[in-house]
Amino acid sequence: MKGIVLAGGSGTRLYPMTRAANKQLLPVYNKPMVYYPLTTLMLAGCREILLVVNPQDVETYRRLFGDGHQWGLDISYAAQPKPGGIAEAFLIGRNFIGSSRVGLILGDNLFYGDSLPTMAERGANASGATIYAYWVSDPSAYGVVGFDADGQPVSIVEKPKDPASNWAVTGLYFYDSDVCDVAAQLPRSARGELEISDVNAHYLKAGRLTVEKLGRGYAWLDTGTPSSLLKAAQFVETVEDRQGLQIGSPEEVAWRRGYVDDAAFARLIEPIKDSEYGKYLQRLLARG
Ligand code: DAU
Repeated sequence: MKGIVLAGGSGTRLYPMTRAANKQLLPVYNKPMVYYPLTTLMLAGCREILLVVNPQDVETYRRLFGDGHQWGLDISYAAQPKPGGIAEAFLIGRNFIGSSRVGLILGDNLFYGDSLPTMAERGANASGATIYAYWVSDPSAYGVVGFDADGQPVSIVEKPKDPASNWAVTGLYFYDSDVCDVAAQLPRSARGELEISDVNAHYLKAGRLTVEKLGRGYAWLDTGTPSSLLKAAQFVETVEDRQGLQIGSPEEVAWRRGYVDDAAFARLIEPIKDSEYGKYLQRLLARG
């Protein structure tokens, strides 16, 4: 199973925070934002991961993640010349995807919930396309799924003025490898982008789309505005402080899944042992 993290974009809504720093490198409480979606892909079972980032940020992301072997992953990088739409990930990632099924996650999406691994693995192992919908108060800011009286999906519209439902399309998607051909045939939208909603509408029309509804036991958080970024950080702080367990730690997921053994985990911790993060990982190892 292959996975793509899309972490480019201009982050204009977070200006001036994003003037010199890429949005997905900004902190959400105690980790770079991109840690959270990367960990979600790991929980779905993806170990071969492509980071699609802005050309000027490739080296920064490489400094952050290297080739991923330290976490039992194989991480590579590709540049998106300019933000031409989410579905461009499938043109840029065509060689990486090859004939594999692929997961795509947006670098600014934070998912949390007890059944997240099961839910994501189901999408990873299905066929056609699987997307996840989440009930929100203001759906017009998102892709929106419309359902018929039997609860079957009948429409997907990007940022509708008059939304068909409150079910927003989240930024986690799984597709068969033919998604590259689907994306290549799409016309650009009025805003000049290859729209992920058009990809999903294509699979819907072909009868190959599964929409999983994320129930109330999940949190799906947005980090697109200063206020939503702060709220996401407060959410992470609240849960982590209460439980003493961290959200979005790739080291922890790698260790719990057996991608790294105790000795390799200890080696990961050594250089960061004075940080709160390092101390947290040390406690995990000591507890066994
Ligand atoms: O968050 C879920 C929503 O994400 C979906 O409901 C929408 O259907 C989908 O279009 C998208 O909407 P946004 O308006 O939030 O997309 P945005 O342009 O903010 O980009 C989302 C992330 O993807 C962001 O972290 C930057 C990255 N990105 C985006 C584009 C358009 C890229 O790396 N390259 C791009 O070309």
